[in-house]
Amino acid sequence: MWRSVFLSLSTNSGVKHVATRSRLAKGVSSRFVAGDTLDEAVSATRELNRRGMTVEMDYLGESVTDRRQAEAAASAYLGMLDGIAAAGADSQVSLKPTQMGLAIDGDLCYQNIRKIVERAALHGNFVWVDIEDSPTIDRTIQIFKRLRAQYPNVGIALQSYLYRTRRDTEEILSLGGTIRLVKGAYQEPPEVAFPNKRDVDLSFRLLSELLLSSGQFQAIATHDEKMIQHAIEYARAHGIPKESFEFQMLYGVRRDLQERLVREGYRLRLYVPYGEQWYPYFMRRLAERPANLVFLLGNVARELLPAC
Ligand code: FDA
Repeated sequence: MWRSVFLSLSTNSGVKHVATRSRLAKGVSSRFVAGDTLDEAVSATRELNRRGMTVEMDYLGESVTDRRQAEAAASAYLGMLDGIAAAGADSQVSLKPTQMGLAIDGDLCYQNIRKIVERAALHGNFVWVDIEDSPTIDRTIQIFKRLRAQYPNVGIALQSYLYRTRRDTEEILSLGGTIRLVKGAYQEPPEVAFPNKRDVDLSFRLLSELLLSSGQFQAIATHDEKMIQHAIEYARAHGIPKESFEFQMLYGVRRDLQERLVREGYRLRLYVPYGEQWYPYFMRRLAERPANLVFLLGNVARELLPAC
């Protein structure tokens, strides 16, 4: 129930308007967002690198309806790739197709991402294409396939909650593609997605086995200890070396588990978002774990109650 409430709020422009003007809400979102600027994201990255983790940086923004805004977002990514290289930080980048103009024009979106993938190639870097809600997926996968046919340094996220994902996974693996497997963060109807968590988890386990046995480098992105343990045991049982895959997690989520995986010698990449468009991203994090609301309310109470 809470998941639906937060996911509905994530696309509500009235609530977004109020929340993004609240210093308090912004302060609370900083648990999941590295800051407003590239410099802040780079310093968070350096700190994570020091702790043995790599990063994929994300400039927050999505559902762009204006061509110039999409081009500005693409330019921000070019600056991000240059900034990462100049700082010597160990970070890839991750972007959303609807931030690059998917809703305006598929070719605009393709051209924006292509520029970013080319700049990344110049720096020996890699670009992840995030996956969004189901109506965008066919076009996202087409753009990904077009890019992947020309550039090896691009990967795509796929969601275990969708019925279609097994087919998409097999197709992308057959093209030699790199996949980040996630459970899925959007509100989807039962016509396209498993309504029960148990089925989403079962699908995640089966898909992670497919990725691990692909013989290509792949990413398992989850904070779910059971999914992680399953991947570890499957890899061990099939002689798949730790270096041939990585776990990925979100900045600010399950830091204990992050530290543990690094201590145990697994590769771990953190998704580090920055920028002012934090509202929908933050609401999806609340939807994943409504207990985060308690943390939020605790901060509100501390701010409202005078210290005595
Ligand atoms: P699940 O939701 O079952 O949570 C398992 C446990 O993890 C929880 O019990 C809790 O302990 C902890 N946890 C999970 N989320 C938390 C949170 N927000 N705060 C605190 N604790 C939390 N989705 C998508 O649709 N498209 C995409 O491109 C991406 N990209 C992406 C990149 C990376 C690196 C990650 C880790 C995730 C994504 N996601 C995503 C989000 C993903 O689909 C999913 O919503 C979240 O990862 C939460 O699902 P879990 O797999 O963690 O499991």
